[in-house]
Amino acid sequence: MSTTIESPNYAYPARSKGRRGPNLEKAGWIFMRASGVVLVVLIFGHLAYNLLWTPGGIRAIDFGFVGGKLADPFWQWWDVTMLWLAILHGSNGMRTIVNDYVHKPKIRTVAIGAIGVAAAVLIILGTLITFTFDPCPTAADPALLPEFCASL
Ligand code: HEM
Repeated sequence: MSTTIESPNYAYPARSKGRRGPNLEKAGWIFMRASGVVLVVLIFGHLAYNLLWTPGGIRAIDFGFVGGKLADPFWQWWDVTMLWLAILHGSNGMRTIVNDYVHKPKIRTVAIGAIGVAAAVLIILGTLITFTFDPCPTAADPALLPEFCASL
């Protein structure tokens, strides 16, 4: 059995005709390529550090390992850049797919709005966690904290 995917039908050809102002679709097209190149470096750097260069490899990844990385400004900025680019790249890609395949304007507006809300929530929460994460909060029950907090 084979499935046929209908040809994409970009819904807004008239929008760009004679339209003034910055060409946001072109900017989005360039952003997808530029962010893709940067993501290759960030994602493979992330995997290489965690899995190849850290003694113990994947078995060494635990709460303390992540807590240690998130205490270092270098990795905070690496992770937050990776988060922002992956979410903006992924959500802009999803927006393109919706524009190609969703023909009813109301459904398209709802779908693109939902993608935007999901992206904003993930970016806000992810950024907040990256910069505020504390593996040993002072007010917490010591029984719930990792062992290394006792020596701090
Ligand atoms: C390894 C890094 C990555 C590279 C080099 C890359 C590259 C690209 C490029 C060049 C496009 C544009 C394709 C086109 O316009 O036809 C694209 C589209 C897309 N990317 Fe990525 N990407 C990467 C990572 C990601 C990640 C992490 C996500 C999800 C969070 C993602 C989700 C998407 C989606 C949803 C599209 C739209 C697909 C479409 O238009 O058919 N990509 N990617």
